[in-house]
Amino acid sequence: MQKFYITTPIYYVNDVPHIGHACTTVVADIIARYHKLKGEKVFFLTGTDEHGTKVAEEAQKAGLSPKDFCDQVSQNFQGTWSKLNIEYDYFIRTTNPDHEKIVQEFIEKIYKNGDIYKEKYEGLYCVGCEKFVTETDLIDGKCSLHPNKEIQKQSEENYFFKLSKYAPILIEAIEDKNNRNHYQVCPQAKKEEVLSKLKRGIPDLSISRANVPWGIPIPWDKNQTIYVWVDALLNYYTTLKITNNEDFWPADIHLIGKEILWFHAVIWEAMLLSTGISLPKEIFAHSLYMIDGQKMSKSLGNVISPQELIDKFGVDGTRYLIASSFPYEKDSDVGWERFVEKYNADLANGLGNLISRVAKLCETKDYFPKNSPPTAISYLLENGDYQSHMEKLEFNLVLEEIWKEIKKTDVLINTKRPWEKSNEEAKKTLDEAIRNILNIGYALKPFLPGTAEKIEKIFRGGEKLEATLFPRATL
Ligand code: MSP
Repeated sequence: MQKFYITTPIYYVNDVPHIGHACTTVVADIIARYHKLKGEKVFFLTGTDEHGTKVAEEAQKAGLSPKDFCDQVSQNFQGTWSKLNIEYDYFIRTTNPDHEKIVQEFIEKIYKNGDIYKEKYEGLYCVGCEKFVTETDLIDGKCSLHPNKEIQKQSEENYFFKLSKYAPILIEAIEDKNNRNHYQVCPQAKKEEVLSKLKRGIPDLSISRANVPWGIPIPWDKNQTIYVWVDALLNYYTTLKITNNEDFWPADIHLIGKEILWFHAVIWEAMLLSTGISLPKEIFAHSLYMIDGQKMSKSLGNVISPQELIDKFGVDGTRYLIASSFPYEKDSDVGWERFVEKYNADLANGLGNLISRVAKLCETKDYFPKNSPPTAISYLLENGDYQSHMEKLEFNLVLEEIWKEIKKTDVLINTKRPWEKSNEEAKKTLDEAIRNILNIGYALKPFLPGTAEKIEKIFRGGEKLEATLFPRATL
């Protein structure tokens, strides 16, 4: 059986879940469900990134020990994902002792291979990004992603990983499809970005900290802890060891946001090469949601939480809005006004209206579609466009294909006017409409699993439609 392993980033617990996190996780869930539908054996991983200065600071502010704080926020993420009907196979927490142990073993291996050396380092550090930055990265002395955080001056002895040594190998691995280490960086613009940065030459990477107690100790030097990003990236690998699922390696796709591309498309692969582990097949870096044209931030007060979306649009409504605004290549502008408009047009008036219209017609025409013939596999799934857009994560286009079927079925009913016909004649039109709706439901399974199930129950199981599936929303 074909295997498929997909991951999301593991989210920092210094923040509560917001629509940005939900974007990546919902989309990963859609991809995972699609591969299950194709009959593949899927492993879908998500989790939380719990070490480092940023988390320790936030715990202190909350008046909790780092571990208690992590327990709380991590629970919050798990709760949100279960509300959004996310079917992950494992939730990794980097404070899991098994993870910590495997990380130590891994780094020890790199050390023994001669890829780690000690050196005094002086530099600037952004706690928000949890990374060293250079003067040229800053705007007015501040990090563009974290303008509210002070840049720290650090000067300490650290252990360094010989990242620079791997640059030529990585360039070949990305460029040459026949290279034994080949991996894809998607979309195309992101691949070019990574390659050009690699070609300009890259420095080695500091992989330990002398003054960050909330981390995993360096096994041969207890005065230092492992750099939080090294610890975090390894989650994709440690999880499979922890859960005895090593045959899922290498990952088929690491789905991430564009701001953490370098870690995933360069640092991660270099670490794996150093220990002789095969490389993931694809890194897909999507762009970001902007809220009404602005970055989402606590200080601007424009953060949208998944719970707020669920309250207004329901679980499937939220999943739909996220999928249809997926920032594939460019940042995507979202906001309440757009969401309400899109939801009403496509779900309340489009899909929801069609379902209730046909369900009601079945009732008035005394036609209960029990055991309607199974659509073994929907023609939409077999349809080349659906598949190819889906494989490329072009969800907008997949949904367009499906919505064409919805419109087609609306037109069918409008022209055939079954309500004016005898029961016998109306049934012919209703049969066709039901077949279409079942196909639409099947194609929607990865996106709107709850609705897809409801469609099956009504139009194959003869269950009555009790309430409108997508009641109209207002601002
Ligand atoms: N802990 C690191 C990741 C380690 S993975 C080995 C981290 N965490 S994070 O909490 O900051 O999450 C970042 C990720 O959340 C992004 O890469 C993206 O997947 C998602 N998003 C955060 N804000 C987003 C938007 N505004 N829009 C879309 N996705 C966003 O970085």
